[in-house]
Amino acid sequence: MPGTMRRAVNPVASRALLFGREWLRAPRAVGAVAPSSRALARAITDGLSNADAPVLELGPGTGVFTRALLARGIAVNRIAAIEANARFAAALAGALPGLQVIAGDAARLRRLTPFGPASAGTVICGLPLLTIPKPKILRIVAGGFAALRPGGAFRLFTYGPTCPVPGTLLGRLGLVAQRTAFIAGNIPPASVYVLRRSEDGL
Ligand SMILES: C[S@@+](CC[C@H](N)C(=O)[O-])C[C@H]1O[C@@H](n2cnc3c(N)ncnc32)[C@H](O)[C@@H]1O
Repeated sequence: MPGTMRRAVNPVASRALLFGREWLRAPRAVGAVAPSSRALARAITDGLSNADAPVLELGPGTGVFTRALLARGIAVNRIAAIEANARFAAALAGALPGLQVIAGDAARLRRLTPFGPASAGTVICGLPLLTIPKPKILRIVAGGFAALRPGGAFRLFTYGPTCPVPGTLLGRLGLVAQRTAFIAGNIPPASVYVLRRSEDGL
């Protein structure tokens, strides 16, 4: 309409708004009031390149880690994102054409992965592991490693003081964990951990 000004929509603000709304609906399932910071996204994707693809992303939310993966040069069609929240999944699929967005539960990873078993190079886990019961964490991490090829790594973040995958589960799955970054400026402050098979070393 002539003379009508269209208000520019800031995509970062609108993603933050969507995130906050979904947190209000389901605080435990969403697990954070706001998307992770770009500093945390850079830390969890540190050093990755197309050689580490295909990448399976668990719990992408509004896609801050997905965008960091793309910025690292990983091709969009080499990333598959599994998201339980249907609104996040739809928004992400609309925003990043070519991305494989799977609306579903990461605990069903073995059935959902679009890549064959033992083929992914990296799992990026954005799930709220502190609110997920231990048996389900076991299914998620075991499913991630079934999808990973030898040498592949499972990267995750946490707001807690230790790795959110308990040592007993790591031992049972033959994994080792290493804290690789602490992002004080994230709200709340967060650590990044990398899990690998013991035989691959740290
Ligand atoms: C703490 S938010 C992190 C979102 C995003 N990775 C970020 O860092 O901004 C956790 C995300 O995991 C999703 N989620 C929670 N449980 C899930 C599950 N079982 N399977 C897949 N996604 C899940 C939530 O809907 C939410 O998008």
